[in-house]
Amino acid sequence: MSSESPNPPPVEVVWHGGLVHPGDRQQLLGQRPLTVWFTGLSASGKSTLAFALERRLIDLGHACCVLDGDNIRHGLNRNLGFSHEDRTENIRRIAEVARLMNDAGLIVVTAFISPYREDRRLAQEIVGTDRFFEIHVSTPIEICEARDPKGMYKRARAGEIQGFTGVGAPYERPISPALEIDTSVDTLEECVGKVLSRLLELLLPETEEQISGTVQP
Ligand code: ADX
Repeated sequence: MSSESPNPPPVEVVWHGGLVHPGDRQQLLGQRPLTVWFTGLSASGKSTLAFALERRLIDLGHACCVLDGDNIRHGLNRNLGFSHEDRTENIRRIAEVARLMNDAGLIVVTAFISPYREDRRLAQEIVGTDRFFEIHVSTPIEICEARDPKGMYKRARAGEIQGFTGVGAPYERPISPALEIDTSVDTLEECVGKVLSRLLELLLPETEEQISGTVQP
């Protein structure tokens, strides 16, 4: 994290730089690492889009990996719930993982509701502004609620789930996302096409001058 971190490590914990320049990894993998951050309501189509995008990127020869909300809550973040505080910690950890994966040269695609603007801002800061590509999956709540694949909106409306996003907890829309996608308007193929047409140029390896030094804490 940056030096402005509220919990800096103790002084005896010292960053150890590596011997591999980020440019070496870009050459090795033939790509510039990016984090594609999908944000939107439950059942808006984030995971479907993320995995379809991953499939296309792999088919195009890009090393890529999805971090998905439900999946991550099976393992790394299984101890977190859905309070504001836990969601903030969820997003912070994911951003740190995305950053590590980007540092390793991979393209990362995330699918988390990530409902709070401040949490997404922090994620962008952790990953690095130049590597962060925010996409708002803006499918309207009425559509998400009609889809309701896990019956969670229904349970939330019945008062069985407290603080469900869009019902008992807020979703703060991004103010200026890199891209907005509504999965109730475009087909899955069209949505992935829209994302790819913006991404492919950004994924080209950088020139020597564009690449900034070794990885920093
Ligand atoms: S986030 O808000 O912390 O970003 P995340 O994307 O990890 O959420 O997890 C969302 C998943 O958890 C959804 O698929 C949803 O089905 C489930 N879930 C369980 N409880 C809630 C809740 N209170 N609000 C939103 N999603 C919930």
